[in-house]
Amino acid sequence: MSERWVKHDMDFLAGRRHRRLRQSGWMRDLVRETSLSPSDLIWPLFVIEGKNERAPVKSMPGVDRLSIDLVVQAAREAAAEGIPALAIFPNTPGHLRSDGAEEAYNPDNLMCRTLSAVKQAVPEIGLIADVALDEYSSNGQDGLVRDGVILNDETVEVMVKSAIVQAHAGADVIAPSDMMDGRVFAIRQGLDAEGFDGTAIMSYTAKYASAFYGPFRDAVGSGERLVGDKRTYQLDYANSDEALREIAQDLDEGADMVMVKPGLPYLDIVRRVRDNFNVPVFAYQVSGEYTMITLACQTGVMDRTAAMLESLHAFKRAGAKGVLTYFALETARLLNR
Ligand code: PBG
Repeated sequence: MSERWVKHDMDFLAGRRHRRLRQSGWMRDLVRETSLSPSDLIWPLFVIEGKNERAPVKSMPGVDRLSIDLVVQAAREAAAEGIPALAIFPNTPGHLRSDGAEEAYNPDNLMCRTLSAVKQAVPEIGLIADVALDEYSSNGQDGLVRDGVILNDETVEVMVKSAIVQAHAGADVIAPSDMMDGRVFAIRQGLDAEGFDGTAIMSYTAKYASAFYGPFRDAVGSGERLVGDKRTYQLDYANSDEALREIAQDLDEGADMVMVKPGLPYLDIVRRVRDNFNVPVFAYQVSGEYTMITLACQTGVMDRTAAMLESLHAFKRAGAKGVLTYFALETARLLNR
C-alpha cells in the first residue's frame, strides 16, 4: 500500500474501514445480520408404493423416492435434527392416473397413507401436503383439461376434495401448487365445513412457469406425460407486479403463508413480498436448482457444502421465513454439528 494512498484515504474517508468488522471469525459472527438454522428448513420428500423401496431420481443425484416405511424413518431423522416440517409429494402409479384425476381424492391414496403413517409415528413433525392434479392426472397438467383448455373451476372442485382427504389423513398444512384462480378460498371453505378450521394453508402464490421444475417432474412421474406447458396458469417469468396481485388475493382468500417458487432466480420477488405484506413468506429451492448445484459440484468446480449453505442463507437475507429444499437434512446435520 503506498503512503500516498494511505494519506488520501485518511484525509477523505476519515479512517472509515469496513474491513474492521470482517477481520476475525468472532467479529463476523457478532455483526452477522441474518442466520440460518434447521428450523428454517422444510424437506420435500417423494413417496412411492412398496416396502423398504428406495428409487433414485436420476436427474437429482442424491435424492431418492421412498416407500412409506422409509419416509417414516426419514421423518424421524428430520425431526431429530430440528427440521420443523416435511412437504410430501406422491409418485402415483400409472394405472391410477386418469383424465379426471379421481385418485387425488381417494382417501386411501398414496399421499393419504403416507400422511397418516408419519402423523402416527412422528407426531412432532409438521406435514405439508401438496395439492395439485398433476400428480394424479394422465396428462401431467395441474388442471382438468377439455379440448386443450385448462378448466379452472372444475379443477378447484377436485382440489377441495383432495385437500379434505389429506386433512383427514393428518395434513397440518395444505399447499395448493396449481395456480388456479379462487382455490385458496374454496379450500378454506371446504376445510372449515369439515371441521378442519385448524388446518393451515400455505399457498404457492407466486409460482412461475419454469424450466427449473424438470427434475421434479421426473421424480413424480409427470414429466413424460406432460402435454403442452403450464403457461396459462403459472406466472410469466418476466413479471413481478403480477406476483404481488396474486399474493394480495391469496391473503384475502385466507392463505396463512405464501410461497415464491422457484427460489434463487426469484429472490427479488421474495424481497418485494416481504416488503409489501406482513405474512410469512417461504421460498422453494426447486429441483433444477438442487441439480445445478449438485452436478456442478460433482465436477469439482465448486464446493458442495459451501454452495449449499450460501444459497440457503441467501433466501434468509432476501426475507424468506424459511426454505423448501432438497438439501434440508444435509444442511440441518451440518448446522447441528
Ligand atoms: C406440481 C408441482 C411442481 C413442483 C411442486 N409442485 C411442478 C410443476 O408445477 O410442474 C416443482 C418442485 C420442484 O421442481 O422441486 N404442481
